[in-house]
Amino acid sequence: MPTNTISADNNQLQSFQGQNIIIIGGSSGIGLAAAKRAKDAGANLFLVSRNAERLRKAAEAIGGATQIVADIAAPPPAIFAGLDRIDHLLITAGSVNLQSLKDQSETDLAKVMHERLIGPLLAIKAALPLLHPASSITMTSGQFASRPAAIGAVVAAAVAAVESTVRALALELSPMRVNAVSPGWVDTPLLDGLMGEGKRQVLEQTASTLPSRNIGRPEDIAQAILFLMVNRYMTGEILHIDGGGRLV
Ligand SMILES: NC(=O)c1ccc[n+]([C@@H]2O[C@H](COP(=O)([O-])OP(=O)(O)OC[C@H]3O[C@@H](n4cnc5c(N)ncnc54)[C@H](OP(=O)(O)O)[C@@H]3O)[C@@H](O)[C@H]2O)c1
Repeated sequence: MPTNTISADNNQLQSFQGQNIIIIGGSSGIGLAAAKRAKDAGANLFLVSRNAERLRKAAEAIGGATQIVADIAAPPPAIFAGLDRIDHLLITAGSVNLQSLKDQSETDLAKVMHERLIGPLLAIKAALPLLHPASSITMTSGQFASRPAAIGAVVAAAVAAVESTVRALALELSPMRVNAVSPGWVDTPLLDGLMGEGKRQVLEQTASTLPSRNIGRPEDIAQAILFLMVNRYMTGEILHIDGGGRLV
């Protein structure tokens, strides 16, 4: 391995020592992979999600984290009570329920927008007094923003709205930096629910159509997230980590 790769990685590892990182959605998949990477790099982790038992297991798996039970669709105003500083706020929370518009009620549509957009904005608002000029916020969009599925219009709209929000907040909250990752297909528990028993076969078939010829791992997205947290010249950006999926 070339020396400069080692030193770049060491710089990234050193830069999280003692920092407070909140991960809303940190008990599984991409959020959990980011939590593990940040923990290994010396950060203090605060994991937020709805299920206390899953949070406990995730905290144990990464070697310790403060656990906060909350629903991002309706975050309690005091969600960050007890914290005195937030260095990086990451939001990966989100479920995907792809349905035709004809099958969706007004409540179904509103739920998606609350989980993906309104709730994250309220969480960011609640975090503002604890964030500082060198803090970063990282949100999560998704490939459906540019390559929608044949069903799930509101999911496509919600993730596209996240991308516009990131650009607007990068201006409003400057000099704090605000970015998003936009994952393509990533093999996480989310896809177990979406694809069921045929998941392995669907993913193999999907991989064969992608320019990268492989499916994302949670660690691939986590690496990009930590890059967005540390790079002081990166803001208002949507980083696509999708194996080139939006191009084909
Ligand atoms: N995997 C992919 O292929 C893919 C592709 C594009 C975009 N994304 C997006 O990337 C993000 C992370 O996905 P993932 O694959 O890592 O999913 P995952 O493995 O299902 O993890 C989702 C995490 O978010 C939490 N969560 C879900 N809904 C929540 C809510 N309403 N309030 C609080 N926490 C909530 C979950 O915990 P609880 O359920 O216990 O609350 C879990 O910790 C999602 O927004 C997803 O849409 C994923």
